[in-house]
Amino acid sequence: MRIVMATSEAVPFAKTGGLADVCGALPIELARLGHDVSLFLPAYRSARQSGMPIEPTGIELPIPIGTKTVVGRLLKSHLPESNVPVYLVEQDQYYDRDALYREAGHDYIDNCERFVFFCRAVMESLRRLSAPVDILHVHDWQTGLIPALLKIEYRAVPPLEHAASVLTIHNLAYQGNFWHWDMTLTGLDWKYFNWQQMEFYGHLNLLKTGIVFADALSTVSPRYAEEIQGPEQGCGLEEVLRSRRDVLRGIINGVDYRQWNPETDPHIAMRYGPENVAEGKAVCKAALQGELSLPVEPRTPLLGLVGRLADQKGWDLLAPVMQDWATHHDVQWAVLGTGEPKYHELLEKLAERYPQRIAVRLGFSEALAHRIEAGADMFVMPSRYEPCGLNQLYSLKYGTVPVVRATGGLADTVTNLNEETLAADTATGFSFRDYSSLALSETLRRACDTYANQPEVWRQLIDRGMRQDWSWARSAKEYIELYRLALAQSKSNQIAEPTQEST
Ligand code: ADP
Ligand code: GLC
Repeated sequence: MRIVMATSEAVPFAKTGGLADVCGALPIELARLGHDVSLFLPAYRSARQSGMPIEPTGIELPIPIGTKTVVGRLLKSHLPESNVPVYLVEQDQYYDRDALYREAGHDYIDNCERFVFFCRAVMESLRRLSAPVDILHVHDWQTGLIPALLKIEYRAVPPLEHAASVLTIHNLAYQGNFWHWDMTLTGLDWKYFNWQQMEFYGHLNLLKTGIVFADALSTVSPRYAEEIQGPEQGCGLEEVLRSRRDVLRGIINGVDYRQWNPETDPHIAMRYGPENVAEGKAVCKAALQGELSLPVEPRTPLLGLVGRLADQKGWDLLAPVMQDWATHHDVQWAVLGTGEPKYHELLEKLAERYPQRIAVRLGFSEALAHRIEAGADMFVMPSRYEPCGLNQLYSLKYGTVPVVRATGGLADTVTNLNEETLAADTATGFSFRDYSSLALSETLRRACDTYANQPEVWRQLIDRGMRQDWSWARSAKEYIELYRLALAQSKSNQIAEPTQEST
């Protein structure tokens, strides 16, 4: 199949979260299976600074945006250690900035325009490159306009006449919701601004647009695919999602073990595998404690946390637990994150107050993320919701026992230790259901008790986790099935024109 992906993040060019890990790895696996894959990304400042070779293609892209024409250029690179081409859409006024979407807690004011431009630039580039396309696979709201453009403007335009579109939802809470006048930026007719297509409570909604117009849909775990069809996790789009449930799949993310493997990891103090995990983790733990100026105590449990400082990740549950545990329990915390200013303040205060117990690094550091995965005894993820989550999968590989809230992908990938799972030899971590500090605290207590008093059970948890295989091989095959479904659907999918009722 000839597959084109469009995304707003992919390692090593641009990353704020797991979307980048997915879009940097899935194309390589699809190519390994024999498919022809290419990737489109904005040419952000971070992409230019990635160290990857970038060349001009000579293609200029004059794109109509509202009443003006904005000119971009198409650049070319590739994914590391692969032949997968990466096309970078250059438009410095939009993309040559310090961050991808927001600074100091505020979204860039022209985000709608920046990503409408990107979507139109992708379509124009494909027309100009004129290589045949079977599947246009887009990710999240930033590329949600592409399925609509394909259906409305490009369905008779070579080389896209036979192409089908797939939208993967990595996070339903980020929808690209903009005031209604931004509809004019899209260049599409106002007739599509109706409650069954692009409109959402009076606003333009780019994720809904993708959900409605794509030929097939996926999200990043089976559990989350179910959850988002209900009112609690549906973020107002549950009805639209339910109406498309026949073409919606939950496909769990894979791990790129070329990047995340303690046997080959260049960032950590000692490399290790299941055979020498006890020694390897002890060395990595002592090094991490030293690096973070925590007392070097081999038997004190070290709890790791890495993630965006956003409400989604459960920092509001954690803060009181960290405070309480810092005074009453012999544990240490190693925290790495960046995001909402309110959580920066909260964590800074905790670290100042308990320097022997709580180490906080506010920023983005790929290397430290690896060292926390390797050096911590447990990895804590009390997410309010979690479409998939990658850190718990990395933790399993690094012999770092995950302690998670059983939601979305966390529920699908971590098996809670209890009598039954102990007997069946299936437990890999600890989980809880209630979104409360009490439930988190109790679960941490269970985990710390097991760590201190049942070393044999702890060893088994580590061993089982490390031997699991969450590589992309299986998930990539599920995407191929989804692409087949999309191709079959695209022949019968006639939803582009608004119905009488919706106009
Ligand atoms: P999400 O996509 O919701 O942020 P995931 O668990 O899927 O959550 O992926 C998060 C990815 O981002 C992981 O690779 C994690 O290591 C990385 N990450 C998040 N915050 C940071 C940070 N401050 N520094 C380094 N890596 C980070
Ligand atoms: C999102 C989700 C996360 C998921 C990632 C990659 O950012 O929050 O759970 O793992 O996308 O799919």
